[in-house]
Amino acid sequence: MSEHLLHNYGPRGLTIARGQGSWVWDAEGNRYLDCVSGVAVNAFGHLHPPVVAAIRGQLESYLHASNLYLMEPQVRLAEALCGAMGMDKAFFCNSGTEANEGAIKFARRHWLEKGAAGKLRILSFASSFHGRTYASMAATGQEKIRTGFGPLPEGFQVVPVNDVAALRAAVGPETAAIIFEPILAEGGIIPLSGEIAAELILAQAQGALLIADEIQTGLGRTGEMLGAHALGLRPDLITLAKPLGGGLPLGAVLMREDIAKSIHVGDHGSTFGGNPVACAAGLAVLAELQREGFLESVRTRAGGLRKRLEDLMRRKSAQGIACGPVVGKGFLTGFRYGGDLEALQKACRGNGLLVHRAGQDVVRLLPPLNLSEGEIGELIDRLDRSMLK
Ligand SMILES: Cc1ncc(COP(=O)(O)O)c(C=O)c1O
Repeated sequence: MSEHLLHNYGPRGLTIARGQGSWVWDAEGNRYLDCVSGVAVNAFGHLHPPVVAAIRGQLESYLHASNLYLMEPQVRLAEALCGAMGMDKAFFCNSGTEANEGAIKFARRHWLEKGAAGKLRILSFASSFHGRTYASMAATGQEKIRTGFGPLPEGFQVVPVNDVAALRAAVGPETAAIIFEPILAEGGIIPLSGEIAAELILAQAQGALLIADEIQTGLGRTGEMLGAHALGLRPDLITLAKPLGGGLPLGAVLMREDIAKSIHVGDHGSTFGGNPVACAAGLAVLAELQREGFLESVRTRAGGLRKRLEDLMRRKSAQGIACGPVVGKGFLTGFRYGGDLEALQKACRGNGLLVHRAGQDVVRLLPPLNLSEGEIGELIDRLDRSMLK
């Protein structure tokens, strides 16, 4: 049936028929606890009523006009996001890779406008993932993503992750920006160290812009609004996508006023970027994240999940299964697994649980941020039954 779909994603094996809250159902009516959440997109699970209501509301007015005109949901979302993240201006696009493309263009243009024409090098970390389009791919610190697509754009340099000396050696007057994920998600859930965060601050003081790629870490996933703030970083540009549109395609670049000033009419754009339906959903997502006590409750429930995962790792290790430690922060979590990841994912599926992977050996769990205590129990129970010797 799917023979006309390009096979770039590999065999998928499951057709999703319906979703509700933290659960999805396949075409045969089997139910799964969804701990993939559309790869960190469905922050409040499936069909979260405030998100659906916001989308429905906007459907009554118009679906698309154009960035030739002001669209109210876009204006309101820009204001809300800038307020929440301490930024001044927002540019909207449709995806994570586009957000990073935009941020890289803005950083380079900023230095050109400042008269520093040679300041164009973009640094990034090994094992990072920033997207599949050309500049984002050039910034991505994984050979397997880049190989075979050359020539790539020039002026990108990948630095070993969490290596202070290497970062210090790489930063120079030609460094336009450093793009980083606060926790390298796709690359294996690798947190940036406090030492590397301090070095990033030093590099920023020397004139390198900091671009925080918060596409996976941002908007509550780690229990904080932004992963970079938790590291003590004040990025110059922030890229967002995944959960921003509540399940609709939406990306954003947030920036400070002085960087925004370098961008002039016609310098960048997008036909669909900031679609009003997606922005209406984004407003609902942000309002939910800002509900009093919500992020604190994410941290509490995620802390509970972590303890139970650690306990599971201890029990399974005692049974001779190579697993642990638990990795990540908040609901960007998981554990190292020495066995066959694909086989484990399949076993989980058989027990009604969807999980993802990261890097070479990490089982990645990205549950909805409103996962209940009862569902945490279901997750542990289903994992327990799937991890067999
Ligand atoms: C940190 C990070 N940056 C960028 C991207 C690319 O986002 P998109 O697939 O929406 O282009 C991803 C996607 O997984 C990501 O995790």
